[in-house]
Amino acid sequence: MMNVPAALYESSIPHLQLLGRGKVRDMYAIDDKHLLIVTTDRMSAFDVILPDPIPGKGRVLTRVSNFWFGMMKDTIPNHLCTEPTLNDVIPDPQLREQLAGRAIVVKRLKPLPVEAIVRGYLIGSGWKDYQNSGAICGISLPAGLQLAQQLPTAIYTPSSKAEMGTHDENISFEASVALMGREIAEKVRDVSLEIYSKAAEYARSRGIIIADTKFEFGLDDDGVLHLIDEVLTPDSSRFWPVEQYQVGVSPPSFDKQYLRDYLETLDWNKTAPGPRLPEEVSRKCGEKYREAELKLVGD
Ligand SMILES: Nc1ncnc2c1ncn2[C@@H]1O[C@H](COP(=O)(O)OP(=O)(O)OP(=O)(O)O)[C@@H](O)[C@H]1O
Ligand SMILES: [Mg+2]
Repeated sequence: MMNVPAALYESSIPHLQLLGRGKVRDMYAIDDKHLLIVTTDRMSAFDVILPDPIPGKGRVLTRVSNFWFGMMKDTIPNHLCTEPTLNDVIPDPQLREQLAGRAIVVKRLKPLPVEAIVRGYLIGSGWKDYQNSGAICGISLPAGLQLAQQLPTAIYTPSSKAEMGTHDENISFEASVALMGREIAEKVRDVSLEIYSKAAEYARSRGIIIADTKFEFGLDDDGVLHLIDEVLTPDSSRFWPVEQYQVGVSPPSFDKQYLRDYLETLDWNKTAPGPRLPEEVSRKCGEKYREAELKLVGD
């Protein structure tokens, strides 16, 4: 029998101060300068945390993010720290085993109040926006584009970070300038487009199209911009298999879309509490995440 590690829905680290639980991550203070972030197996969809975990998802997200942090490190500093080590922070071997592969020590930074969204293809809310207005978030696009079509160039469409329990809201680039100042806003935009384009090129060589994605950034005490949170994961991106891609058709995916599609078949109004997931659906969802990891990072 294969040894399948148990799912982690909520972490508990008695000797560290819990700063908060996001939809997916639990944040603990290590000291003034460092956090421990635990990526759990919680699944959120339509901004609601579902009652059932996707076993192993937190480890997939952590491994995929760490891979991209490494690849992009000469383009943009990131929040990962090598000191203190997980051994220093979690001395108890049993607890450490539970957290291994999903807990990271990071610089405690000041998160910027925007989500940096980059879109390379016409899908989701962007497709709806385009059909209604011929533009996405006010950025005009050529007429006649089809569903899932690649955009002439990738576009940056920031959104303001919503408080827990509310939805993020698309904002104009000028509104992001008002929130963060022009220098930072421009830097966030330029670096987001640069990371997306590098990642998209790499992913394509591994059989994955990155249709769109979301980055988060934070500042250190000296005002240096860092990439934080998670990067180019199946939670924060739309990943499509290259070989099944077809313009005009909503592609199958290695990400949350599988679960969103299932949830759309239910009579659920997308407010908490979310529905329980059939075993088959959570297993399949876990497999999609794992497939993305294998393609991008390998075994
Ligand atoms: N290095 C860092 N320093 C400070 N905060 C960080 C850092 N990395 C990530 N964060 C924050 O930690 C949280 C991660 O938790 P999670 O991804 O579960 O949240 P979320 O549900 O997506 O969003 P939120 O909790 O903001 O609604 C986010 O609020 C993110 O901005
Ligand atoms: Mg998040």
